[in-house]
Amino acid sequence: MSAPQIQIVPSVLPADFSRLGDECQALEKAGVDRIQWDVMDGVFVPNLTFGPDVIAACRPLVDVPFEAHLMVVEPDELLPRYVEAGCELLIVHAEACRHLHRTLGLIRDLGASPAVALNPATPAVAVQHVLDLVDEILVMTVNPGFGGQDYIATMEPKVREVRQMIELSGRDIDLEVDGGIGPSTVAGAAAAGANVFIAGSALFRDPEGQAHAVSEIRALAEAARG
Ligand code: DX5
Repeated sequence: MSAPQIQIVPSVLPADFSRLGDECQALEKAGVDRIQWDVMDGVFVPNLTFGPDVIAACRPLVDVPFEAHLMVVEPDELLPRYVEAGCELLIVHAEACRHLHRTLGLIRDLGASPAVALNPATPAVAVQHVLDLVDEILVMTVNPGFGGQDYIATMEPKVREVRQMIELSGRDIDLEVDGGIGPSTVAGAAAAGANVFIAGSALFRDPEGQAHAVSEIRALAEAARG
């Protein structure tokens, strides 16, 4: 199996919410592979963000795929809305789904790619019995709810464990990390086995611009994999 493709995916959480369409167009121009919408319900996490109509408004402005990171309790009812809004990949949290196996199947039935996220305290074994249902596993490297937090380096052994589970499964599953990813942290996550990198602050705060941040993080991830 060839090494999974490195993908740089911005979170729009740090974006200027009064210009989200322009911000998506700038991110596409900067060379990102996808755009992630951090959807928060104020219950699973102590923050509230994007409804499906906000995402739908931006969908026609760019060609890059959208993914929704659903930090939402019991997301089943909302899944069709985010697919209709134009999200091709839906990430649900193992901790937020009463019936995770069923929820992931619902996402596939809607024609979208299912993915499952693990909070820092949740062990890798929580996804052991749904590997056949997902196209991606997200290992959170911060506690969800806010951007600009410090990377939790103690998640790297979990990233390594999930990568081993994926390899043993023989399935083509992406391993995404999210939270505190930037030039000083991406190498550790890549060396541990991540291939999809969510970056919010690192992209929006790079003094040399977003294109520089994207290419720098991509190059550091490639180099760390050897
Ligand atoms: C937390 C969010 C953040 C965001 C990225 O719920 O998911 O991790 O996407 O934030 P930065 O890149 O600023 O740490």
